Amino acid sequence: NPNKSQMEGSPSLERSTCRAKGGSPGFKVAILGAAGGIGQPLSMLMKMNPLVSVLHLYDVRGFLGPQQLENALTGMDLVIIPAGVPRKPGMTRDDLFNINAGIVKTLCEGIAKCCPKAIVNVISNPVNSTVPIAAEVFKKAGTYDPRRLLGVTMLDVVRANTFVAEILGHDPREVDVPVVGGHAGVTILPLLSQIKPPCSFTSEEIAHLTSRIQNGGTEVVEAKAGAGSATLSMAYAAVKFADACLRGLRGDADDHIFLQVTELPFFASKVRLGRNGVEEIYPLGPVNEFERAGLEKAKKELAASIEKGISFANK
Ligand code: NAD
Ligand code: LMR
Repeated sequence: NPNKSQMEGSPSLERSTCRAKGGSPGFKVAILGAAGGIGQPLSMLMKMNPLVSVLHLYDVRGFLGPQQLENALTGMDLVIIPAGVPRKPGMTRDDLFNINAGIVKTLCEGIAKCCPKAIVNVISNPVNSTVPIAAEVFKKAGTYDPRRLLGVTMLDVVRANTFVAEILGHDPREVDVPVVGGHAGVTILPLLSQIKPPCSFTSEEIAHLTSRIQNGGTEVVEAKAGAGSATLSMAYAAVKFADACLRGLRGDADDHIFLQVTELPFFASKVRLGRNGVEEIYPLGPVNEFERAGLEKAKKELAASIEKGISFANK
């Protein structure tokens, strides 16, 4: 309970040791929106991560709020943002823009001021617009480093691996499905021609799988019937992603190979994480005709969502 830990006089959950397993330093992590459906299990799972020495849990519920934000952020290596409202049936992620855009903007202003070098993981929807908003805030503050700002689309990868593994009769951990683009509808682009281990599907299977992966979030929103969107699976995906970021931070600094894979300034794709965040962006690889058509649709919608975020931030 994040509020309780504050009320008991401890501003953070600290491990008795500041060294993570293996002798490397533990990292300081803040979760903004920690009392929510994602925030609660995410906080518990991050607390269990041996790479984390200090965990700050921030929310506006209960006794906390803006007056505590600076304390929550100061000195952090990684900030995870699941703050904001979730969808109800019938809504798109973009319908959350009016509320969540302002929340993310304010939180990122705090990050720019208190921990400008932190890696930032943005979960709040619509991710396709909230990441550009965060970038604009950081640019204005003179702290923007594209290597350190990451939208979390990991849940799409988790879902894709699960659905493909179901059909193949494999363990999802043995399946690797690249999912690129963004995190809403057609912008979620699974590259089923690049699945590892290699396998082949009929065109009906490909159409079905693509649509299921693109609409996985909506499936959950409808099943929850007004009680919110995916929480536990998102906490799992966020922890997997945060852990990859922390393991990267512990690693070596590299010569950056920082290529854009499309003409868009924001586009989810496979990356290598290191001491500075994203150290390398991998090319898309060979795409077939079905995927190429999907890519064009994805880029069109993604470009509009990016533009919407940028104009909001500069209003
Ligand atoms: P929730 O309503 O259960 O929790 C949100 C939390 O954010 C609440 O505790 C609330 O008090 C807090 N909050 C609101 N404004 C805040 C502020 N200004 N500062 C700090 N905290 C604030 O919602 P949830 O189910 O946890 O979902 C949170 C967000 O994550 C939603 O926008 C949802 O769409 C998004 N989401 C993204 C993905 C993804 O794959 N990227 C997956 C699932 C959900
Ligand atoms: C998801 O994919 O589950 C999240 O983006 C939440 C949503 O609104 O679908």
